[in-house]
Amino acid sequence: SGMVVAIDGPSGSGKSSVSRGVAARLGLRYLDTGAQYRAMTYWMLQNKVDVGDPAAVAADAGTPVIVSGTDPAAPAIGVDGEDVAVQIREADVTGAVSAVAAVPEVRARLIALQREIIGGGGIVVEGRDIASVVAPAAGAKIFLTASQEARAARRNTENGGGAGGVAATREALTRRDSVDSRTNALAAAPGAVVVDATELTLEQVIEQVAGIVIH
Ligand code: ADP
Ligand code: CDP
Repeated sequence: SGMVVAIDGPSGSGKSSVSRGVAARLGLRYLDTGAQYRAMTYWMLQNKVDVGDPAAVAADAGTPVIVSGTDPAAPAIGVDGEDVAVQIREADVTGAVSAVAAVPEVRARLIALQREIIGGGGIVVEGRDIASVVAPAAGAKIFLTASQEARAARRNTENGGGAGGVAATREALTRRDSVDSRTNALAAAPGAVVVDATELTLEQVIEQVAGIVIH
């Protein structure tokens, strides 16, 4: 069966770009588990579920039908048949996703779905708990990180330098890291190799991670 590559790390460390690049280079599939938590959150908001009420979120956690594409050249995410790739990046979803992802029923459902997609392997999987929980037997485990300054600056550029600029982006990122770190330790799992992308270009990070996977 094929190789599983686990890439975990905080928001804006480069997980999505690096995972897609490594998967494309090595001919592997690609799974963005963050997109699944975002799709679940999008559905909760669309259906007027109070995302501040864990019991309400838990009661509906089994309802949305979430479908993930695994082509690194064309990442795709759907909920109940709707393509939500754009909607899941909106600020309302980003602001609510950490609370939704903290609900055990949500995690149980999505982790089961993730393991189904991983199947026999041949895949790069990115998230927060891939090496620790979803796929502890992964053949390669990377903890990708970067300074808070670098992560906020990159996210801000990606968002077109939106309202409030880099200071507001940094504040939102810090808040999300803080809630996320209560759900999953934002630290390297046992056996994971730490890659600090602060001073590296995206190409350099892809090169380094692909090297770790092959060796
Ligand atoms: P994550 O999935 O961890 O949130 P992304 O892959 O979405 O991170 O990267 C966040 C932003 O930073 C993107 O705009 C991406 O192009 C950029 N980026 C990622 N890695 C680097 C790097 N090493 N140098 C410069 N920019 C980067
Ligand atoms: O791209 P970014 O790192 O900003 O976020 P993401 O990977 O799209 O993940 C969105 C949110 O989903 C995170 O802030 C976590 O709350 C949650 N998440 C999680 O709990 N477990 C995962 N394996 C992946 C994401």
